[in-house]
Amino acid sequence: MPADQKTAASVPADLWSRPTGETRVVETGSAVLCLHGDRVYKRKKPVEPGLLDLRSRAARLAACRAEVELNRRLASDVYLGVADVLGDGGEVCDHAVVLRRMPAGRRLSALVRHSDRVDDQLRAVARAVAAFHERCGTSEVIGRSGDAEAVAGQWKEALGGLEPFQGKVIDADVVDEIGRLALRYLAGRGPLLAERRRAGRIRDGHGDLRAENIHCLDDGPRILNRVESDPRLRAGDVLGDVAVLVMDLERLGSPEDAERLMRWYRDFSAQAHPPSLEHFYIAYRAFTEARVTCLRYRRILAEAGAEAGPGPGAEAGERARRLADIAYRHLRRARVRLVLVGGLPGTGKSTLARRLADADDGRLLLRSDAVRAELAADGHADPDTPGSGPAIPERPAVPADLGASFIWPLSSEITARTYTVLLSRARRALERGETVIIDASWSDGRHRAAAARLARETAAEFLELRCVTSPEVAATRLTRRDSASDPAGATSAVHRAMSSWAEPWPTARVIQTTVPVAEVFHAAERCIA
Ligand SMILES: Nc1ncnc2c1ncn2[C@@H]1O[C@H](COP(=O)(O)OP(=O)(O)OP(=O)(O)O)[C@@H](O)[C@H]1O
Ligand SMILES: [Mg+2]
Repeated sequence: MPADQKTAASVPADLWSRPTGETRVVETGSAVLCLHGDRVYKRKKPVEPGLLDLRSRAARLAACRAEVELNRRLASDVYLGVADVLGDGGEVCDHAVVLRRMPAGRRLSALVRHSDRVDDQLRAVARAVAAFHERCGTSEVIGRSGDAEAVAGQWKEALGGLEPFQGKVIDADVVDEIGRLALRYLAGRGPLLAERRRAGRIRDGHGDLRAENIHCLDDGPRILNRVESDPRLRAGDVLGDVAVLVMDLERLGSPEDAERLMRWYRDFSAQAHPPSLEHFYIAYRAFTEARVTCLRYRRILAEAGAEAGPGPGAEAGERARRLADIAYRHLRRARVRLVLVGGLPGTGKSTLARRLADADDGRLLLRSDAVRAELAADGHADPDTPGSGPAIPERPAVPADLGASFIWPLSSEITARTYTVLLSRARRALERGETVIIDASWSDGRHRAAAARLARETAAEFLELRCVTSPEVAATRLTRRDSASDPAGATSAVHRAMSSWAEPWPTARVIQTTVPVAEVFHAAERCIA
């Protein structure tokens, strides 16, 4: 092992038992570290963390070597090797991982707390993590850990673990809602998770990418402490791996840094995943952290012999609630929605639909006008499912008195096909975790019913918005928009005729579009929020 040669082959056990001068001893859950000069010596506790049994010296030696090996990819110049620990008589009594000592104050957790700008460091971390993930291995077993059932199993376990604290430390409704949102997301996103696995995004990652494990040196970050106790804790979607750090930055009070890190990671990894998947994994990390914090809360109370309430556990309880809140908010943002924006001609559907789609990442806009034009150009062929007929029967022909130039939007075969294509494209996007906004008239209840069915099948939230304004306003706007179109009078006649014909749409939220566009948008956002 070449790294072994770079370092002192042995250190005295005295360093730990009788630290002198500058030497400091620090204990963690699984190790006792000795900070000595420009080195850190890390001895494993003779215990059984996770899958490992470290009670024998041979096992600890193997674990030390494994730790060096495991971390070398991320920080080869930090994990220097393994030294023997010598007892009073000079005999080998234990082993220690030898690390280069990181300068104080360069931990990312300290930097985000104490510096105003950490953009350069965060970008470098995002780049390093993305590059690391590219090198991480995968296997059949690791791949399976990213499947929808496996991920649902992890959520259920976490939810079960939190149950004793539900209604005591964390509001019962919040936990219920977290469980509902998480499992609903998974229920419809099987195809997305399968795609992630096929794309090789389920890997043997770091497992504990916390800000305190990252040191930002001038020549780049050093990422330490890859999880070694149980390889299963490292396996999963690489997004879930980086989500630990995003959650941690948010927890440390830097949500903007968290967001920037996520964005840079996305850029550096050049992956086309929907933002909902990021939110989903960040929520999972926050939720499991909430659970761990609840356990700590219980331990603190037990040690103090105290009851719940103000006192020693209060701070841990508060922290657990904040983490649950982070999980809840990210799951809200991960919601996958199918939004119909409908209404009569000139009511401002397209204007509103576009504003809604532009308002957040991960919202796909589908426009009936565009699909109809594609179909017309292709001679009515369905571009997505060749040979398929209209899913929904046609409406009666156009009333003659409406004029030859007017095409009754519900009457033609092309309309039925337009809706079929819209919904089949919507399905693919919803299954991939995108929110879909469909701009179409939606005057026919059967098309709306088909959309509602699609939402159910993809476990997406279903929202119907109906744009409404007066015939005169609609006609004036359309005449202004399409300078070559019919005079306003004719347009308003069409609007009136359609209005008298259109079926009731009681399930829709009515959006008044007579007011300025910004107000229309806010009213609609309130409905879908
Ligand atoms: N709230 C509003 N205030 C002022 N102008 C608006 C408003 N909403 C839409 N408009 C304008 O009215 C015209 C018609 O709007 P838009 O194209 O969005 O309607 P539509 O319902 O999609 O029409 P169509 O049935 O032809 O598809 C556009 O020129 C648009 O800029
Ligand atoms: Mg339109």
